[in-house]
Amino acid sequence: VNTRGKHPDLIVQQQHPFNAEPTLTQLLQAPTTPNDLFFARNHAPVPAVDVDSYRLSVTGLVEKPLELSLDDVYRLPKTTVTATLQCAGNRRKAVFAYKHVVGEVPWGDQAISNAVWGGVRLSAVLERAGVLEGAQHVACLGLDELGQGDKRFNFGGSIPLKKARCEEVLLAYEMNGAPLLPLHGFPLRLVAPGYIGARSVKWLVQICVQQTPSSNHYQARAYKLFAPHIDAKTVDWDKGLMLGEMSVNSSICVPEEGETLASGKLEIKGYAITGGDRTVERVEVSLDGGLRWVEARLSRVEPFAWCFWTVRLDLEPGTHCVVARAWDSAANTQPEDLAKIWNFKGYMNNAWPRVAFDVGPAVRADKRPG
Ligand code: MTE
Repeated sequence: VNTRGKHPDLIVQQQHPFNAEPTLTQLLQAPTTPNDLFFARNHAPVPAVDVDSYRLSVTGLVEKPLELSLDDVYRLPKTTVTATLQCAGNRRKAVFAYKHVVGEVPWGDQAISNAVWGGVRLSAVLERAGVLEGAQHVACLGLDELGQGDKRFNFGGSIPLKKARCEEVLLAYEMNGAPLLPLHGFPLRLVAPGYIGARSVKWLVQICVQQTPSSNHYQARAYKLFAPHIDAKTVDWDKGLMLGEMSVNSSICVPEEGETLASGKLEIKGYAITGGDRTVERVEVSLDGGLRWVEARLSRVEPFAWCFWTVRLDLEPGTHCVVARAWDSAANTQPEDLAKIWNFKGYMNNAWPRVAFDVGPAVRADKRPG
């Protein structure tokens, strides 16, 4: 695994393929996640790419199929977009705690990170190729190879053509001003802001404009949503809801579960995110299970990026349980009860986050260190 350039403190969920997330504290350090701390989600080994022979092909329902070298891509107008990637499996640890999920990575709340992506607009490439009538979806294929039984195939997925034409969708070759790390898709990846992370295909090698969504395993089977009573034995894959836009979600990062805080004014902090081109409008916390809510102060709010939120409270010594919920610009909010949205793959957990913590006696001013 080429994990060069990654932070030694990442929580490694899996070594092969490499899957890792930062700690809650690291995640909340800065609104733009440093590259070495950005979570990594891989389904297969990181492919080695020869930049000289590398070509991106654009095929399917286009007037003029293209074969682009990296220099061809670099010659197109460069743009940057701030976008948060969130895995559909983010917050799965809480899903496991309710009811076990078989064979999936038990992500904490940190399968999410934010970066300023640099690259070219997908729409610019589609315009050069000339999209033909009847086209509805843009399917992407990565260079990483997977094996299932005796079948070998590459990772892939698709987004609707309407989304592909939006100016925020990039073929990215830079992350926070630096070249993409191999782990994050060097030399070129799709960045589909507002969509689940799986649609941002890394090590991009082919773009196919087509009438139907991608038939790739990761679009046609995995990353689909099922009702709580469906399991791996009873599942009819065709009946699942194909995941695309993220839903509204939030996490409590401070305090952490079981932490003891000094009484007096204390801060509860976390992040919130939503999907499509919607924005987070409000985050609230409750200390009585959702009867009364206190509104949080939000950091800068923009589409495609998370925001950080903070609530300052005076709490009595004792044990407290805090829950949170975010609201977005379509007035969507998070469900209270995980049981109602539990699914056997553990995707899209956006149930209220809950953290139990203790407040100790106040630290007297003359006893405070330093
Ligand atoms: N692209 C390829 N080619 N192979 C992959 O395994 N994982 C996807 C997506 N793109 C993946 C991929 C998933 S599930 C997510 S959440 C994001 O990449 C994670 O991107 P990151 O590893 O840069 O954080």
